[in-house]
Amino acid sequence: MLDQETFSAVDAFIGETIVPTDEALRDALAAAETAGLPQIQVSRPQGKLLEVLVRLVGARSILEFGTLGGYSTILMARALAPGGRLITLEANPDYAEVARDSIERAGLGEAVEVRIGPALEALPVLEEEDTGPFDLVFIDADKVNTPNYFAWALDRTRRGGLIVADNVVRDGSLAEAAAGDPVTKAQRQLHEALASEPRVAATTIQTVGSKGYDGFLIALVGG
Ligand code: SAH
Ligand code: DHB
Ligand code: MG
Repeated sequence: MLDQETFSAVDAFIGETIVPTDEALRDALAAAETAGLPQIQVSRPQGKLLEVLVRLVGARSILEFGTLGGYSTILMARALAPGGRLITLEANPDYAEVARDSIERAGLGEAVEVRIGPALEALPVLEEEDTGPFDLVFIDADKVNTPNYFAWALDRTRRGGLIVADNVVRDGSLAEAAAGDPVTKAQRQLHEALASEPRVAATTIQTVGSKGYDGFLIALVGG
């Protein structure tokens, strides 16, 4: 049967078999839960997809929008090529502090920088510092700005790099032309913009799992 119980059971089975957890990940989730952060991080199987993509592009430079407790951050940072760096942007200072601690405990304090503040304000600073180009950008912050973050990232991701955006399908509302909700409108607008964007080869993959029904947009930069 296609229901939430089944989706969660399958994610659990995937976790028990090909995507095991470990102490640092358990620790990061426990720290986030204790601190009262929302439990909205990528699932373990989704996190492994991010890891696989980071390795596939041989990423040495990653930008993440939306750190939360650092779960996806830890998974991607571990997969960086030697000497690689990851910058992650988080608006909520309390979340950022939890993330910094978990990232440190995971042994990734050197590779990862958590920047506090609204991502749109962090971007001009990154430009001034001449940071980038990035090998992979993961967009997972305030969803209404996903198209803005994508447009910015597109100018700053190397050919052969990837831009990945979480939460674009949103229980299927992506297909509703009359959607009034600004978050859904933003995901539709991004897809419509990509229809005439020659610089990327992109697709959106719908997902079900412990987090319900949603999906990732995955864009390869460089046509
Ligand atoms: N990537 C995380 C989950 C991120 S949840 C993981 O999978 O483990 C979304 C995060 O975006 C939240 O922590 C929220 O505080 C943050 N956020 C919301 N608006 C933001 C903004 N304008 N700039 C940066 N981060 C923002
Ligand atoms: C939610 C899920 C996410 O993956 C995210 O990045 C933000 C919010 C949610 O289910 O509310
Ligand atoms: Mg998300």
